[in-house]
Amino acid sequence: MAVANSKKPVVKAAATSNRLVVGVSGASGVAYGIRLLEALRDLGIESHLVMSKPAEMTIGYETKLTPRQVAAKADHKYGIADIGAPIASGSFKTGGMIIAPCSVRTMSEIATGVTTSLLTRAADVTLKERRPLILMVRETPLHLGHLRSLVQLAEMGAIILPPMPAFYAEPKTLEDLVDQMVGKALDLLGHSWPDMKRWGEDLSNGARRSSKKSNEKP
Ligand SMILES: Cc1cc2nc3c(=O)[nH]c(=O)nc-3n(C[C@H](O)[C@H](O)[C@H](O)COP(=O)(O)O)c2cc1C
Repeated sequence: MAVANSKKPVVKAAATSNRLVVGVSGASGVAYGIRLLEALRDLGIESHLVMSKPAEMTIGYETKLTPRQVAAKADHKYGIADIGAPIASGSFKTGGMIIAPCSVRTMSEIATGVTTSLLTRAADVTLKERRPLILMVRETPLHLGHLRSLVQLAEMGAIILPPMPAFYAEPKTLEDLVDQMVGKALDLLGHSWPDMKRWGEDLSNGARRSSKKSNEKP
């Protein structure tokens, strides 16, 4: 670890499960990461954000926000090269990390362990500390090398959560699609976000197809 810098703000201790690391890489779908930061704020969970440079570019292409405005949604934000940041060390306790979205490049770095940035270092730390790491990998189609990396990551304990829309949730807008995926990621960490719709609760069982039995899934 880097020598402590007295000018750096000290992050006060939070309950482990009440602190999450959010990584945003340069894949399409930066809206997932942005909405995740908003959800964590709703839930009172302390967010620690790191974004890659391509993520900042993609924010420019895909949203009306600036990277600075996105960063302002996080409780703590670190530079991509700041490998002395708290989230670069396993001794800094967190409840896990979500990379939303996760590019093939970032996924591949994590799969090999050859990490070159704070984003992939923080993911590596999450795995080595046996904390949940959720990767919202976004690319299509996938070649065999991509698929092999995904298998390797799953074997290492990562949770692979490609952002795939759930049409049974009857999304009306892009925001609905994004919220459903963000809710799914948070569910995997044991956090219930009210903006997610649940089969059998907010969504009635088989209501749209009268021929279905009430306990059948779509
Ligand atoms: C608008 C835009 C969309 C992109 N979408 C994807 C994508 O969906 N998946 C992906 O793996 N790379 C995508 N890329 C390419 C990555 O940004 C590029 O591979 C970059 O090196 C990833 O670096 P990072 O993982 O450090 O963010 C996209 C790039 C741009 C500019």
